[in-house]
Amino acid sequence: MADTDNVLTPAEAQAYYDRFGKKQDSQGFYEDPALDELIAHGDFANARSVFEFGCGTGKLAQRLLAGHLPAEARYLGCDISPVMLDLTRQRLAAYPRRAQAALTDGTIEFPLKDQSVDRVVCCYVLDLLSQKDIHCFFTEARRVLKPDGLLCLASLGKGSNRRSRLVASVWSALFRLNPAIVGGCRPMQLIAFADRENWQILHQAVVTPFGVPSEVLVLQNKSSPHHPVAAVT
Ligand SMILES: C[S@@+](CC[C@H](N)C(=O)[O-])C[C@H]1O[C@@H](n2cnc3c(N)ncnc32)[C@H](O)[C@@H]1O
Repeated sequence: MADTDNVLTPAEAQAYYDRFGKKQDSQGFYEDPALDELIAHGDFANARSVFEFGCGTGKLAQRLLAGHLPAEARYLGCDISPVMLDLTRQRLAAYPRRAQAALTDGTIEFPLKDQSVDRVVCCYVLDLLSQKDIHCFFTEARRVLKPDGLLCLASLGKGSNRRSRLVASVWSALFRLNPAIVGGCRPMQLIAFADRENWQILHQAVVTPFGVPSEVLVLQNKSSPHHPVAAVT
C-alpha cells in the first residue's frame, strides 16, 4: 500500500492533534455510529480492565465508564498529544480511582504487563500509522491481552457501497496530496492485518453514516483457552 510511505511522523501527529484538540469531537457524525457498533459487540459488561491506544478527547472512555463497564472496572488510555490527554483527564475526572491517562512518545509499546488486560481498544488511530507500526500494534495487543480478551477496533474503511467507496477514494486522494488535510488518516482494511492464525474474528462490520465508511472489528486472541494455538510438531 503506497499510502503508508506518506504517514505523519509521531512529531507531526502530535503537533496536529495538539492544534486540533476538542475539534476532534466534531468527527462524531461518522465516528459515533461506529463506536455504537463497537460497544454493542465488545462485551464490555464482562471486562474488568480496558486499555485504549490513542484516547483522543476521552469520549469513548467516558461512555464506557458511565454506561457499559462494571462498576469496579479500570481504564487506562494513552495518547501522543498532551492537549488530548488533558481533555481526557478533564472528561474522566469523575473516575479518579478507576481511570488514568498516560502520555506516549509515539512508539508502539503498551505500558502493560503480558496478559494483563481484558480489552484493547483503538479507534481512528491505526489509520494514521505506518504498516510496520500497525503490525507492532497487533503484536503488542496479543502480548497484553488476557486469555479470552478482545481487541476492539474502529478505523476509516474502504467502503461497502458505491457512495462510501467514492468517499473513501476522494479521502485517499487528499491523503496522498497532503496527509495533514485529513488529519493524517487514510481509509484502509484493518482486517488485512489480523492474521487468522492468531486472531478469531468475532465481529466485522462496515458502517457508512453520511457515506463515510468505518470498519469495526472485534477480534479474540486465539491463544485463549477456547482457541488453543495448535502445537507445532
Ligand atoms: C483521529 S484521532 C482519534 C481519537 C479518538 N480515538 C477518537 O476516536 O476520537 C487520533 C488520535 O491518535 C493520537 N495518536 C496519533 N499517533 C499516535 C501514536 N503514535 N501513539 C499514540 N497516540 C497517537 C492523536 O494524538 C489523536 O488523539
